[in-house]
Amino acid sequence: MIKLIINDDEYSVDVDPDTPLLWVLRDVLGLTGTKFGCGAGQCWGCTVIVDGKARPSCTTKISGLEGKKITTIEGIPEDHPVKQAWLEEQVPQCGYCQPGQIMRAVALLDENPDPDRDEVRKAMSRNLCRCGTYPRIEAAVLRAAREVAK
Ligand code: FES
Ligand code: FES
Repeated sequence: MIKLIINDDEYSVDVDPDTPLLWVLRDVLGLTGTKFGCGAGQCWGCTVIVDGKARPSCTTKISGLEGKKITTIEGIPEDHPVKQAWLEEQVPQCGYCQPGQIMRAVALLDENPDPDRDEVRKAMSRNLCRCGTYPRIEAAVLRAAREVAK
């Protein structure tokens, strides 16, 4: 049994310790907000936050996660400034990459609540979007930062 703390809830999972977190989230725990994109650590569509840092859940084995604080898209409240900014800027197109984008943005603003445009671009650059919503993502992160600063 491996104990995981996800969105402040404690779970005990009985799976191979080498199982990547993404499979545990989606297939074992039914937390399907985190998406499978490339499965190879390239697209960051599966981004979650582990102890404050954005991590690709598809290449993160659960064996190293005991006692760490894991946050998924389900753990971000609807009134969080980032989710609100996503709505205001109407960011998603197909939507598939967006949970990962939001998790990356939350991690960025937790670490740096007042990023400039270049810092936003740099932080968000690893999260791929096949629909090309990058300008709206950037606008939403800057909007959320303004809200956080209020
Ligand atoms: S699905 Fe994890 S990085 Fe692409
Ligand atoms: S909104 Fe379609 S992949 Fe990003």
